[in-house]
Amino acid sequence: MKLNIGVIKGDGIGPEIVTEAMKVLDRTGEVYGHEMHYTQLLMGGASIDVHGVPLTDETVQLARSSDAVLMGSIGGDAKTSPWYQLEPSRRPEAGLLRIRKELNLFANLRPAVLYEELKGACPLKEEITQGGFDMMIMRELTGGLYFGARATEEKDGVLTAWDTLTYNEQEIRRIAKRGFDIAMKRRKKVTSVDKANVLDSSRLWRKVVEEVAADYPEVILEHMLVDNCAMQLVKDPKQFDVILTENMFGDILSDEASMVTGSIGMLASASLNESRFGLYEPSGGSAPDIAGKGIANPIATILSAAMMLRFSFDLDREADAIEQAVAQVLKEGYRTIDIMSEGKTQIGTAKMGDLICGYIR
Ligand code: NAD
Ligand code: IPM
Ligand code: MN
Repeated sequence: MKLNIGVIKGDGIGPEIVTEAMKVLDRTGEVYGHEMHYTQLLMGGASIDVHGVPLTDETVQLARSSDAVLMGSIGGDAKTSPWYQLEPSRRPEAGLLRIRKELNLFANLRPAVLYEELKGACPLKEEITQGGFDMMIMRELTGGLYFGARATEEKDGVLTAWDTLTYNEQEIRRIAKRGFDIAMKRRKKVTSVDKANVLDSSRLWRKVVEEVAADYPEVILEHMLVDNCAMQLVKDPKQFDVILTENMFGDILSDEASMVTGSIGMLASASLNESRFGLYEPSGGSAPDIAGKGIANPIATILSAAMMLRFSFDLDREADAIEQAVAQVLKEGYRTIDIMSEGKTQIGTAKMGDLICGYIR
């Protein structure tokens, strides 16, 4: 099979972690007889440096004509990077938000799995993590606060800034359906997370999610307020199967969930639309504090590449092979610094990629 993959290396650690994911894809192609065809695309700060804007129309077109896009991460240090002297609509993050919207990538899947081998890197007590956990955060990605009207205004010498959180029924229904479909293939439980005790948008969210749930009688639905969910994630993460939530809540809860798996460097993600197209990227950022040092954890990006093979190409065997290779390397005790614990062997980004390649079979 020939796979046409758009590649956005991005900023900070982006190029380092994407290089390792491409290495693993190439190795998988070699073993299973697929041809990887990459088109390099610029987005974020790297695009600002060349074109003056974080995303060009041409890049959107090239992404659209690929089968899937693999991405690192974009952005820089807001204090020191010149990108943050630009107006907000021209900063790196605006490119990411625009590509999500233009390609209608409304469903963001972030699987938070505690590998048995990584218990030592998890900050929670052993009695809580006993038996591990495996949850899927389904984050709505093209609505809510991120895409509502916003402005900063001055009146009588006082500055006021506002953002709006808007959802319509269709936006809620399509992400809820995706969440229930995924729950049907898992442990058949959906925890819908909102702030329905305060927000109208959350009350609509709850109503529509309940309507959708009626079509999935086998799935257990529970509603949870977002503040409680943040607490439950560290008190008892095992209770969760699918967490279904709006854009901003999902952003925050997924970073929290990543840490209980050991590190943000472990959290893969897939951003999907109604077709088979997807943008696959680690959930974490460009990590300016460690960029260029060769120590970033490439596993989230490598696992995102596995999600790409599974969701955009139906290559389940190949995706399984990558996931098993990651588990094997962790089992042998190899760790990047972010997941390091006593008695393990610390290695860098490239070595981690090489070791994972060695177990693809
Ligand atoms: P961050 O996720 O980049 O970093 C937070 C912490 O996690 C840092 O200490 C970093 O070193 C660590 N970390 C992140 N990924 C790691 C990895 N793979 N291996 C080891 N350690 C890792 O978050 P931030 O510092 O708040 O944001 C930095 C920049 O990244 C900002 O410009 C932000 O907008 C951007 N960002 C981009 C994306 C994306 O492209 N999808 C996601 C989040 C943040
Ligand atoms: C993420 C990031 C982005 C978001 C930023 C960079 C705009 O934090 O993908 O989680 O908030 O969605
Ligand atoms: Mn985030």
